[in-house]
Amino acid sequence: MAGNWKMFKTDDQAVSFIKNFVPLVGDIADRDAALAVPATALQRVAEEAKGSGVIIGAQNLHWEKEGAFTGEISAPMIVGAGASMVLIGHSERRQYFGDTDEWVAKKLSAAIEAGLLAVVCVGETLSERESERTFEVLSKQLKGSLAGFAAKDEKKLILAYEPVWAIGTGKTATKEEAQETQAFIRKELKALALPAESIRILYGGSVKPDNAADLMAQPDIDGLLVGGASLQADSFAKIVNFGK
Ligand code: 13P
Repeated sequence: MAGNWKMFKTDDQAVSFIKNFVPLVGDIADRDAALAVPATALQRVAEEAKGSGVIIGAQNLHWEKEGAFTGEISAPMIVGAGASMVLIGHSERRQYFGDTDEWVAKKLSAAIEAGLLAVVCVGETLSERESERTFEVLSKQLKGSLAGFAAKDEKKLILAYEPVWAIGTGKTATKEEAQETQAFIRKELKALALPAESIRILYGGSVKPDNAADLMAQPDIDGLLVGGASLQADSFAKIVNFGK
């Protein structure tokens, strides 16, 4: 169950969230909880979350270890800040900052090399869904984004299916739509000779405390990637604790 804070929270606000959140998720032995936080908050949040089991990650990285890339951060910098996860190819990165499948593949290699858990995001736009191109688009994104990924690193890879039209719109994919698409993604992973059954596939897009359990009841939804509802400790804790 992963939260993505996007460009929200100063480091003070982030630390105060973690102080409130950790006691609410207490014993999370049967599931993983993770948060992708702004780069400026990584170090303090990772320090605060130490020992809690809550995984802390970044929202993006550059594929080079270092260099003249103003404004970027690298995998070793994320590791150095005490974090252990990174989101790659979120649709907002693809839409506003030019991330391509080729870049996603390079970022994924860099993340794996540094030992980070990589959450690779894919998803179709509304016009792609309406023109019945969803599967074609996802197939292309998966093939391009996972180019060069080796099956032996399966434990370091998580897929996130986020239909662009469901992000921040209050319009969740129905559990049937999400299930159908995620089953397709698993089939595609198999076709790419990856251990599809053991790679976790998250659903993201307008997940809230009251739809989490229904989505999680679907066989091909292994977890959730939560934007807006991860910004308050109590609502994200409710999602993490679904079914308890
Ligand atoms: P919302 O939950 O706000 O729709 O955002 C989803 C998302 O983009 C998570 O990465």
